[in-house]
Amino acid sequence: METGNLPPAFKSKFTFYMAVCWIIAAFGGLMFGYDIGISGGVTAMDDFLIGFFPEVYERKRHAQENNYCKYDNQLLQLFTSSLYLAALLASFIASKVCTVAGRKWTIRWASLLFIAGAVLTAGGVNKIMLIFGRILFGIGVGFGNEAVPLFLSEVAPPKHRGAVNILFQLFVTIGILIANIVNYFASKKHPWGWRLSLAIAAAPAIVLLLGSFYITETPTSLIERGKHEKGKAVLKKIRGVNDVDDEFDQIVRASEIAHQVKHPFKKLMNLSSMPPLIIAILLQVFQQFTGINAIMFYAPVLFQTVGFGNDAALLSSVITGLVNVISTLVSILLVDKVGRRVLLIEACFQMFITQSIIGGILHAHLKSYSDTLGHGQAILVVLLVCVYVMGFAWSWGPLGWLIPSETFPMETRTAGFAFAVSSNMLCTFLIAQAFLSMLCHMRAMIFFFFAGWIVVMGLFAFFLLPETKNVPIDLMVERVWKQHRVWKKFMVDDNQSGIEAGR
Ligand code: BGC
Repeated sequence: METGNLPPAFKSKFTFYMAVCWIIAAFGGLMFGYDIGISGGVTAMDDFLIGFFPEVYERKRHAQENNYCKYDNQLLQLFTSSLYLAALLASFIASKVCTVAGRKWTIRWASLLFIAGAVLTAGGVNKIMLIFGRILFGIGVGFGNEAVPLFLSEVAPPKHRGAVNILFQLFVTIGILIANIVNYFASKKHPWGWRLSLAIAAAPAIVLLLGSFYITETPTSLIERGKHEKGKAVLKKIRGVNDVDDEFDQIVRASEIAHQVKHPFKKLMNLSSMPPLIIAILLQVFQQFTGINAIMFYAPVLFQTVGFGNDAALLSSVITGLVNVISTLVSILLVDKVGRRVLLIEACFQMFITQSIIGGILHAHLKSYSDTLGHGQAILVVLLVCVYVMGFAWSWGPLGWLIPSETFPMETRTAGFAFAVSSNMLCTFLIAQAFLSMLCHMRAMIFFFFAGWIVVMGLFAFFLLPETKNVPIDLMVERVWKQHRVWKKFMVDDNQSGIEAGR
């Protein structure tokens, strides 16, 4: 596949300051991950239900459960998922804030909103406070997920951009793991354990807030807002060299084109904007249809289904959480060497095979409601889940965020990326909302359902996804989209009609 993979010409050296900026920004990922990991656990805690949803608690106590139909309450799930709806809408506002006020300010707002969410929910005394707090959490996630991946991709040197951007996902996975462990201990503290779980959400946000006074604004954002001198100085500081002229000139050129576009969202609807937009949306939709959050949200339920007790089930989900973190490191090491495509396509094989075998085992052995798996079979299922998570963690997990953050030209970058964030939130919401009912109706077939999606996304990655490894972020149009066998057909008249339509 043609990609225009020319070697990067820009000079850079590793600097300590830059590395600290990467780590601070990645705490935005920790906020997101902590929330993914915490929600299911908190709403399952009896003290929480008795205090706020007593009717749900009563029904839960008398609910008829079986292997596939665990207790399922749409209202409670909607409460959990309201965060994703808030984040979905917030990402579009965040895109505007990112352009007008910069990435750094958007990150600061994300942390403030998240802290407010933690205070309101952890100190909640009625449903209104809880729901309002949940919405603030959601807006914080929307702001953070919009700004952090863009920040990381823009400050990273081209040849390490993949690795640097994946710090976001690495921190997402660490957040999920910490949340699982916190929930495990908090659930044993009566009656306030759930408050502790929610209060701890403020910790990464406080680090991010304080850190936002230390980190730099991205040169791209400074230059885009006309602060050329400062942009150049920052570029020198983060690249650790004085000779940054080539890179600076190229950002200035990209920003001149960007300035001709007055309405980025309108411009996004042009034919020439379709390739990165389609890719950004599909990567996120596919990321969710790997079924990963069915595993992440419901790992304890799933492991109970295959015959583990309460504590053993939680422990198994801590193990999958660890596998998730460690395998993300593999992606950091490989993404700028083997490229994005190889990781995505390899993982499809791995995830397809494991999902199909899990489906097969459950279909064969969990037929009636009273069946349980044998000890050996249950362990096998946990192992297969680990291999599946491994595949996801070094491919569709991180690359679902990386590729959309590096493929839009400057004029549509924040607007286009908002579509990626909101597609993620919408699909996460849909899966969170539907999974337990789907499991109940489709039983083991649900694994084949996700395996089917994995075939589709593998074909998509093979035929339609260009390689973006090593290409400077502001040269994607020339070196990637205009070179690609299929997508170059969309890139007609980019200079005239494209910009015109966005005015
Ligand atoms: C996804 C989340 C998922 C997480 C798992 C992220 O990239 O967006 O939905 O729970 O990875 O590690």
